[in-house]
Amino acid sequence: MIPYGRQSVDASDIEAVVAALQSDWLTTGPRVDEFEVAVAQFTGAAHGVAVNSGTAALHCAMHAIGIEPGDEVIVPAMTFVATANCVCYQGGTPIIADVRPDTLLIDPDDVRRRITDRTRAIIAVDYAGQPAEWDALRAIADEHDLRLVADGCHALGAADQGRPVGSLADLTTFSFHPVKHITTGEGGMIVTDNSEWAESMRRFRNHGMTTDGRQREEGQGWRYDVPGPGWNYRLTDIQCALGVSQLKRLPGWLEHRQCLAEAYGPALQNMPGIEMLAVRPKVAHAWHLLVVRVSADEAGFGRDDLYTALREAGVGANVHYTSLTRLTRFEANAGDCPVAEQASDQILTLPLHQGMSQEELEQVIAIIGLQYDRVGS
Ligand SMILES: Cc1ncc(COP(=O)(O)O)c(C=O)c1O
Repeated sequence: MIPYGRQSVDASDIEAVVAALQSDWLTTGPRVDEFEVAVAQFTGAAHGVAVNSGTAALHCAMHAIGIEPGDEVIVPAMTFVATANCVCYQGGTPIIADVRPDTLLIDPDDVRRRITDRTRAIIAVDYAGQPAEWDALRAIADEHDLRLVADGCHALGAADQGRPVGSLADLTTFSFHPVKHITTGEGGMIVTDNSEWAESMRRFRNHGMTTDGRQREEGQGWRYDVPGPGWNYRLTDIQCALGVSQLKRLPGWLEHRQCLAEAYGPALQNMPGIEMLAVRPKVAHAWHLLVVRVSADEAGFGRDDLYTALREAGVGANVHYTSLTRLTRFEANAGDCPVAEQASDQILTLPLHQGMSQEELEQVIAIIGLQYDRVGS
């Protein structure tokens, strides 16, 4: 199977993890700080707070900006469910907005229509690796005094007009799940310029405690307080060692992903009914996902048929995502986001990852071509 996404782990990663295992600190140790500083620097933010998933990162962000029962947070329909779930964790209500038909990024005009006097924040997703329309979103946020959160789980290494994802919103979250750009097995991080939020998230990830194990061990004594709520969202030093090691290779991986995306473009142009999503001007796309739209042809051969055919031929196609408004959890919103709902029936994710070769890409293209030849004949 040629997977749609896959981690790349080499001897240097293994060496870094082994060194962490042999050190004094398996968790809350110096490698956590090292990883936080490295990701913050890479993304142009002042602070990084490491946590044990992208979902935990989103929850920390919602806590930091004070989301509570009665508050509304606008989220896009085309995203992974964690983007909306994190609002519910704080007792808030996710308000689902539609996306642009060409990019599937949250539609700022639809965001504006959904603002009420209870709206507190907007979470925009840098879907597939492309930065959302941050300038337009910033204007709306400023006008209505809203916090802006980037779910950047697809977009480590992306940029808009030279500004990296991490510097575009008030808080930005990342995931280090194995299909993402870099991995820590499971893991996540929030980056922000706001030192009070960073401090509050550090407590929130550690049961709400004012000190962590290392601070108590290294001289602050045994006393601590718990001024507010918290969870165990800590990321281990073993995982952070892997993260630091992976991050060193990210620039080369981003270039490789860009080359693959550039090769897909012209190859797919010859396929009837297959269209790549649009890329906004002046954007550096991080190409987490290669998403195409498949329109059913005259013989009725559409997305589901192509998905099945590719899977049977050993190509790990996938679908990202079903519109949130089509999930049972949000069924009260069914029909509310027509663009995302139509896209849910048409989109298909094709393989693209740093370990994928040009030959594998050609195989994928040839297999897609075969399906259309077969249908056409
Ligand atoms: C857009 C988006 N947000 C949030 C998450 C959650 O990240 P994690 O799986 O690390 O909890 C994901 C992961 O797939 C994602 O794609």
